[in-house]
Formats: sequence, C-alpha cells, structure tokens
Amino acid sequence: MARLTFHGHATCSILTDDGTTLLIDPWLEGNPRADRGPEDFDTVDAILCTHGHADHFGDVIPIALRTGALVIATPELLGYCGSKGVQRTHAMSVGGAYRFPFGTVKMVVAHHGGGIAGDGAHATPPVGFLLDLGPGKRVYHAGDTALTLDMQLLAGRVDLALLPIGDNFTMGPEDAARAVEFIRPGIVVPIHYDTFPVIRQNPGLFRDAVGERASVRVLAPGETLEF
Ligand code: NI
Ligand code: MN
Repeated sequence: MARLTFHGHATCSILTDDGTTLLIDPWLEGNPRADRGPEDFDTVDAILCTHGHADHFGDVIPIALRTGALVIATPELLGYCGSKGVQRTHAMSVGGAYRFPFGTVKMVVAHHGGGIAGDGAHATPPVGFLLDLGPGKRVYHAGDTALTLDMQLLAGRVDLALLPIGDNFTMGPEDAARAVEFIRPGIVVPIHYDTFPVIRQNPGLFRDAVGERASVRVLAPGETLEF
C-alpha cells in the first residue's frame, strides 16, 4: 500500500510501495495548519513543487539543502533554487512526463500566478502533477488552479485527486466539484482551505456537491490515507 499524508494547506507526503518518500509543495514553517515542522522530514527522496508562491515553495529550499532530496519543478523555478545552492534538480515543463525510479511524473496545466516567494524579479509557470505510482495509484495534485477544461484530459486517468477548494486564490467547492465530474477520480481529498480567513470553507459542502461521483476523504493535518 502507498500512504498519502496530508500536512495542512497543500502540503502532502507520499510513501510509495518501494519505500520512496515524496514531498509535494512543502510549506510548514509559518503554516498555521501544519502538523509538523520542516525539521521533522529527515529522509526525503524527492520534492515536487507546483509553483513559487510561499505557501507551496516555502520549505522546498531548506528541506532540499538539509536532506539532499531531488527537487522536481519547472526550469524557471529550479533556476532560482540553484541560485540558493540546491544542486539535485530535475527540470520538467508542462505537458512532459518522465519515468523516475519510483514512478512516472507528468506536469499538467494549472491556471494561476507564478511569482517566486523571496524574489520579486521573476515569474514562473504554475503546474499540477500527475503521478503514476503503479496500478490503482495514479495521483493528481492540482496545485493552485482555476477550474479548467484541460482537466477533462485527465478523465479516467486518476485514482486519487488532491483538489483545492478554498476559493479566492483557486477553485472553490462548486468548481472543484465540477473538476471531479471532469476527472472522475475514485477518491478526492480537498486541500488548500481553512488556512487563512479568506479561504475558509466547509468541506462537507464539497462532499455534498460531489455526491456519488467520487469518495471524498477529508483529511485532518497529520492524517494518512492508504491507497
Ligand atoms: Ni499560489
Ligand atoms: Mn496557494
């Protein structure tokens, strides 16, 4: 069994069948919903980052420097990481897939902003990630995005979807429920809500909007889902 643990906001870790630890969009320092701090991640094999905003990128560089994890992101974002001393990187661009030892990673479209926290000079394209970690273990982390027709391209290709429902900066519950119609995942976990007052949401209303179309699993920070 693979294990997905939600760490609050959009931060998730995945322990794969082969014992690989993946960390997606780590933001722990300063995250009011985080269940742990960045220092609690001792062994991380790869960090995947959807975009440069602080609430997704905040702990990428500190954890990469301390653990030596491979950072997977766009070349634009990795250029900034490299300027801060991160050496193990794998650059990808939207639409591209690559087979890593732990599984295949594909970068998919996200509609959002692309500024880099701590750097006012550069913007980078935001993305989502589609991970194929084996049969029944295809995971979509949408990153920050609007509802987009591009999600129809994922139909039938996702077992577990992590979708933002916070509204204001991303899809809200109603659009996220429409995303579920497009993608048709088996399981959906709502993320990117309740962290700040402007993205306060009731995940139960999202569950109601999804109805029978998917199994909605609301995870508290620190909670783990086996899949
Ligand atoms: Ni963002
Ligand atoms: Mn965000």
